[in-house]
This record gives sequence, C-alpha cells and structure tokens, in this order.
Amino acid sequence: MSSLAPFKQWVHQHCGLHLEGLAEARLIRAVDALQTEIGTQDSDTLLAHLAHDNALFDRFISQLTVNETYFFREPEAIHWLVDTHLPRRLADKGGPLRLLSAGCSSGEEPYSVAMALLERYGDRAQTLFHITGGDVDQQVLNKAQAGLYSGMAFRALHPALKTRYFTPKERSFQLVDSLRQWVSFRSLNLLAPSAGPIGGPFDVILFRNVSIYFDEATRRQIQRQLKQLLAPKGILLCGVTETLGNDLGVLSLVDDHGIFYFQADNTALPDMAATLAAHDAEPPEAPLAPLLAMPLPAAQPEAPPSSAQCEPTALLQQALEQLNQNRFNEAKALLEPLLADDPWSVDALLLAGLVARWQQQPQQAFDCFKRALYVAPECWPAHFYQAELLRQGELPDNPTQRQRGYAAVVRLLEASPTSSGGLKAILPPLPPGDACFLAKRYAAEQTATQGVG
Ligand SMILES: C[S@@+](CC[C@H](N)C(=O)[O-])C[C@H]1O[C@@H](n2cnc3c(N)ncnc32)[C@H](O)[C@@H]1O
Repeated sequence: MSSLAPFKQWVHQHCGLHLEGLAEARLIRAVDALQTEIGTQDSDTLLAHLAHDNALFDRFISQLTVNETYFFREPEAIHWLVDTHLPRRLADKGGPLRLLSAGCSSGEEPYSVAMALLERYGDRAQTLFHITGGDVDQQVLNKAQAGLYSGMAFRALHPALKTRYFTPKERSFQLVDSLRQWVSFRSLNLLAPSAGPIGGPFDVILFRNVSIYFDEATRRQIQRQLKQLLAPKGILLCGVTETLGNDLGVLSLVDDHGIFYFQADNTALPDMAATLAAHDAEPPEAPLAPLLAMPLPAAQPEAPPSSAQCEPTALLQQALEQLNQNRFNEAKALLEPLLADDPWSVDALLLAGLVARWQQQPQQAFDCFKRALYVAPECWPAHFYQAELLRQGELPDNPTQRQRGYAAVVRLLEASPTSSGGLKAILPPLPPGDACFLAKRYAAEQTATQGVG
C-alpha cells in the first residue's frame, strides 16, 4: 500500500476534501482500487494517471465524496426560499431568476426546489426560474439526470408530492420528464468553478451540507469563488449546522425571521441597539432584517437598572431575577445592551426568548431559542422552551418538531444529568431533573394521543 499522505494532499488540493479520521478509510479503499486498476503502487505514477485520465479521476473522486441527501432535506429553508424570498426577488427584479444547487449530489435538492416552485407557480415556474445542479462527482450527476429514486430518498417527501411527480418503475420511482428536462446538471468543482460552464450569475446558490467536509481555509476559498458567481443581491444558503462555520467575513450573514443566509451586498452589521429600536414589530413583508435585527419586545421608557455598569455575568443574573419577578421590561432593558455587545451570548438569547414569550411574542421567542441553539446545540432549556411553544399552542403546532425538542432534552440530560446546557452565567431557569421528567411526560402524552395504529 502506498503512503496515503501524497493522496490526501492531492485530494485536498483538487477538490478540497479533508480526509482525516473516519474519512481516511474511504481514501484507503480508493487508493487500493486505483493500485489494482493501474497495476502499480508508486504514488507518483498513480497521481500522474489521475491528472491525465478524466474517467479515472471521476471514479476515484466518486469513492471519496459523501453523497447523503434526500428530498426536502431541511424543508424550512426551501419553503422560505419559495414562499418568501423568490416572490420578493421576482417582484423586484423580474424573471427569469437563476438558482444553483452547488454540491447537489444525486439531484434531490434541486428537484425539491423545482417541485416546490411548481406547486406555487404552476407551469409558469419553468419560465420564471432556471435551476442548475452541480457536483464534482460525475456518478451522482448521472443518477440525478436519470431521475430514478428509491427508499430513503423519499423519507421527508410529502406522499402527495411523491404521487404527483413520480411514477413507479420496477422497484423504484421515476421522476416525471417535465422536472428532469427543467433542471440541468453540470460538472462543478467548487474549488475551480470557472473550469467548466456552470452558467450564472445566480440569484440563489444553495450550498448545503457540503462545507462540512472542508477545513476553514478551503471554506473561505470556496466562498470567494461562489461570491463571484452571485448576481447582485444574490444569496448563498448553507445548511443549518454549517451557517456559523461559514461566517468567515467573505459574505455578510443575514437573518430573515430565523432563516440565515449570506449576501455580498450587505456589508456591515448594523448597530444592535439601533436595530432593536427600529424593528419592534416587523410585518411579514418588511425589508430583510440583517443578522442582528431580530427584535426583542418593545422596551418601555423606564430608567435602566442602577447596575447597568456591571459585568455581563452580574447583569445576566439580574435579568434572570427580574424575569422571575415578572418584571419583563426591566429584564429586557438589561438584555438589550448585552446582546448588542455579544449577539451570540447563549445566556442572553435564552433570557430574551423567555421575555418575548411572556410578552406574548412567541415567534420572537422561538427565534431567540433557535439562535441559542445555533451557538450551543446542547442548550437543553432552549430545546425545551421551543417544544413548549408548540405544545401550548402559542405557535402553530408541529408535532414532529415538538417531539424532536423533547427528545433532545431527554437525550442531553440523560447523558449529563446536571448539564448547564451551555449556559455560562446563569443557572438553567428550570432544574434539569424537572425538565427531563416533564419532557418525557409530554413526549409520552403526544405518543398516546397519536395512538399506535
Ligand atoms: C452530502 S452531499 C449534499 C447534497 C445536498 N446539497 C444536500 O444538502 O442534501 C455533498 C455533496 O458535495 C459534493 N462535493 C464535495 N466536494 C465538492 C467540490 N469540491 N465541488 C463540488 N461538489 C463537491 C459531493 O460530491 C456530494 O455530492
């Protein structure tokens, strides 16, 4: 077996993949197969073959990529795109708008967007939007073009959409021709997007669940490349867990009611205090709110607490105290400057969520908890209160999401029964034992209501 080091370096250089840890096993298999095919163990010879033989390169890369995907993965972003963002862009700019799924794997992502657009716009969708999928792995692109799917690809697809857009074929399902002909697929290496004709500029680039396989330097390099492909006011959407890891200063991060995306034109983040004042009650069609613009409930013109000069830890503890005494405006007045200084403080976000909830602003509360979870997925109180907003009907119920929230509380607290939930300055607003007990009970109640049939 040749040394892996030159192959690791070569792969990193050519397509950015960082093959350490568990991923190394894939490289070992791929190099093994390459040695057998070429009949030598000499690294230089093997790399020379890879450099000159495109088909060999494709087969080699295909063994290294992770192509896990399914229809309507992370559906919140797809619905926001189709029902909120694209209608706004159409009104502003007119069509056709261009969308790119960068790292599209076997096509489930661009086809999901296409289905959602057809549902909203009917046949007009095909003239209003051009959709392209690109991937470095030629084998998954062939699969995308064939449009034949089975099993787990459908795990999150609504049955009505499956019936409408697929026909059974042997033991699989064939995507209808109108969708296959509408979405085009191209070979795309994100490290060298200018190498092939990918098209553009794009109004939307979906770059979801791809960057997790890259180190920070590579992510930065890819963002610079993708920035070149964006149309003016174009946006880049990453996967939920990748967003913070892609906030590298190349593009600006924007929050539109809990959906995070990147944009080139939006340069500086606004002053938090000013934004809080300006965004007290945003109507749904308000201009896009920059990242820090998520409003807390309106502040009352009361004098700030005398301890305003204290350290953040003391201020957070005071905010919790105020909250416990139902003095919500006072708690809010303490939290606003703290969030202005540190918009990603888990403690402040959790407390801001509770204030918003008590002030009957459930969507804001939900968004605060969600932001806390972006920074600290282990924040079990945020999971708990999100689930509670749904269970108590303060937001339209979503049983799957609610169950997931309670399950997260139980999982986190069973693994670590005294966990602080990522809170640094305050104790969790409810004791972990109570939270775990309640989460189990509420989750069980829901299962009983659903029945077993
Ligand atoms: C896990 S899939 C994500 C699919 C889809 N975006 C989703 O969210 O479900 C990641 C895809 O990124 C592709 N990829 C990895 N490195 C790439 C590169 N340098 N250029 C283009 N695509 C790449 C892989 O081939 C793989 O199909």
